[in-house]
Amino acid sequence: MSFTIAIDGPAAAGKGTISKAVAAHFGLAHLDTGLLYRVVGARMLEGMDPVAAARDIRAEDLERDDLRSPGVAQAASKVAVIAQVREHLLDFQRSFARRSGGAVLDGRDIGTVICPEAQVKIFVTASPECRAARRCKELQDQGLAVEYDAVLEDVKARDARDSDRATAPLRPAEDAVLLDTSALDIDTAVARAVAIVTAARG
Ligand code: DC
Repeated sequence: MSFTIAIDGPAAAGKGTISKAVAAHFGLAHLDTGLLYRVVGARMLEGMDPVAAARDIRAEDLERDDLRSPGVAQAASKVAVIAQVREHLLDFQRSFARRSGGAVLDGRDIGTVICPEAQVKIFVTASPECRAARRCKELQDQGLAVEYDAVLEDVKARDARDSDRATAPLRPAEDAVLLDTSALDIDTAVARAVAIVTAARG
């Protein structure tokens, strides 16, 4: 039986770092599903129809080096409201989740839609201000000239779009464990997530 860990949450809550660390700790493969939407968003910015871009997505597309920009992030959250885009990306995510060695998938709807049968579900969250401060530092460390207020607006706009959409909105699964990272440093947050998985594995 495959072992799947679903880690969901809003932008910049720390779920990417936590998911990578949890995957490494337990020797599981990791899929950052946001990258799928980012590829489709990037393709849309290049003029491609997002539904066609989602239908034709390939694993190597996730290696594009321009997927982390704020423009692509906004485009990703726009294409993510299109039901047909989400549908085309289902198989890719589900077959990754079923791989025999087990997998960690992080995103917005992993515990609710993609892998409702996941053995462990964690919903990672933090206040918008805290997430904006982290994202701001991350982008500045990449050499981008960004300001906190603009990043906060960006975080709030993406939260609203991700939470209010009709198809697979961002929300915790009923059986998800909540992990609020607002007051935690990353090592503590990872340790809590590892403890949650360890307890669930029995
Ligand atoms: O996790 P991220 O910031 O890379 O995600 C980019 C966008 O993709 C996000 O604003 C919403 C969308 N997304 C989604 O709708 N469902 C997922 N499972 C992952 C991401």
